[in-house]
Amino acid sequence: MRVRPDDLGPLAGAARRAGQALSTPITLARQAGLIGAYARLAGWRAGPFLRWAARWDNLFQAGAGATRIGCFGPAPHVVWEVTQRCNLRCAHCASNSGKARDDELSLAQWRKVLEEIRALGGEEIQFIGGEPLLHPDWAEIAAWVGELGMRLVLLSNGLLMNTEEVLPQLKRLRPHLIGISLDGACAASYQQMRGVDGFGAVMQLLQQLVADGHPNVNAVTTFTRTNLGDFDRFVDLLEGSEITWQIQLAHGGGVRFQSDEFVTRDDFRRLVAKVRETLLHRPGVKLRTMDDFGYFPLDPALRFLHQTWSGCIAGSSLIGVRSNGDVLGCLSLGDSFVEANLLRTPLPEIWTKGSCFRRFREKLQTLRGICAVCAFATECRAGCPGIAVSATGHLGDNPYCIRALETEAILDSITGGK
Ligand SMILES: C[S@@+](CC[C@H](N)C(=O)[O-])C[C@H]1O[C@@H](n2cnc3c(N)ncnc32)[C@H](O)[C@@H]1O
Ligand code: SF4
Ligand code: SF4
Repeated sequence: MRVRPDDLGPLAGAARRAGQALSTPITLARQAGLIGAYARLAGWRAGPFLRWAARWDNLFQAGAGATRIGCFGPAPHVVWEVTQRCNLRCAHCASNSGKARDDELSLAQWRKVLEEIRALGGEEIQFIGGEPLLHPDWAEIAAWVGELGMRLVLLSNGLLMNTEEVLPQLKRLRPHLIGISLDGACAASYQQMRGVDGFGAVMQLLQQLVADGHPNVNAVTTFTRTNLGDFDRFVDLLEGSEITWQIQLAHGGGVRFQSDEFVTRDDFRRLVAKVRETLLHRPGVKLRTMDDFGYFPLDPALRFLHQTWSGCIAGSSLIGVRSNGDVLGCLSLGDSFVEANLLRTPLPEIWTKGSCFRRFREKLQTLRGICAVCAFATECRAGCPGIAVSATGHLGDNPYCIRALETEAILDSITGGK
């Protein structure tokens, strides 16, 4: 028989009432402790964290959803458009690069932003553009990244890199990863994608970077319908080399990118089959797929893709910063996804302000289509937002999903496609 506290007389009743009165502060204290522990695990520094936690609305909000700390955590990864200026005019360019923006941040402003990112626990800065090397002070900004204790990742078209000035600069900077775009597996295909004759120069540069001892040298291929047919040639080209082959899909959005260049779902299915064949039968190719190749495949040959995929981190531990200070959850997305501007609002405030990044942080409540009925939705959060928006116009609906394709194939085999 269970004894209820009230059965034990007035003393027990008082204890029960005291327990009830204390339960809210105890819960809050426990949540605060948990948040502190999460913050520590996540590498937050005490100062900014305490300032953040001192705001009761933040504490309540985080306490209520303490298990989803990712949505309130620091921004370890920042993708940074150093400048929008570019020496090329690639047709697929999502960032519409060409001319510098009229209002690009000054060096002093960049320094302040970098310090804010670091204070928020930032660990990695990825330089993209435009062409980052066209910023007159790119090397100085890159050096600050290291001085502030963060990792530098540099993405470049490579055409300004193989010089007596830049190669030694790179050796001093020691980026964690250097990615060089290689969108064609031969001179003609490269020219078709990038509008210039650069294939030979980029291949030579990639080899030089490996020879210079850089730890991670990636050839970055972005697939559109134009260069899909190059897949096998890329495999032959890069097999046996130290160069990692990083592949991704071009998402829509840029003004030059024609929507009929976006790979279809059938193209994607074929591409996935090629990835599978390469992983199984061409171990000499250091193939790495980006986050637009997922998610939770049934096929054991593809299983390792996204084994550690814990959902899209845009707006939760990744942000994109444009060269004019606009902040987005992810730089793959267009103007309608700008959350705030660093010149008007300091980054810590943007990061913790309830109104920013809600579409990412509360994405689960807005899933649609196949993602809305998917058993993995809580973890996956509809995969890559750039692809989801290109395919369906909606962040929470992503038909470019290997699991979804596999499920459809199984259902078709049962129903005979009816
Ligand atoms: C925007 S560029 C900036 C760095 C440099 N200018 C370059 O081309 O490598 C960074 C990477 O994004 C890729 N990219 C361009 N347009 C894209 C799109 N629509 N979708 C996905 N990636 C894209 C480029 O091919 C390149 O590998
Ligand atoms: S993809 Fe890179 S190189 Fe091509 S136009 Fe865009 S920023 Fe310039
Ligand atoms: S259906 Fe959507 S939520 Fe499910 S695994 Fe695929 S992309 Fe992720």
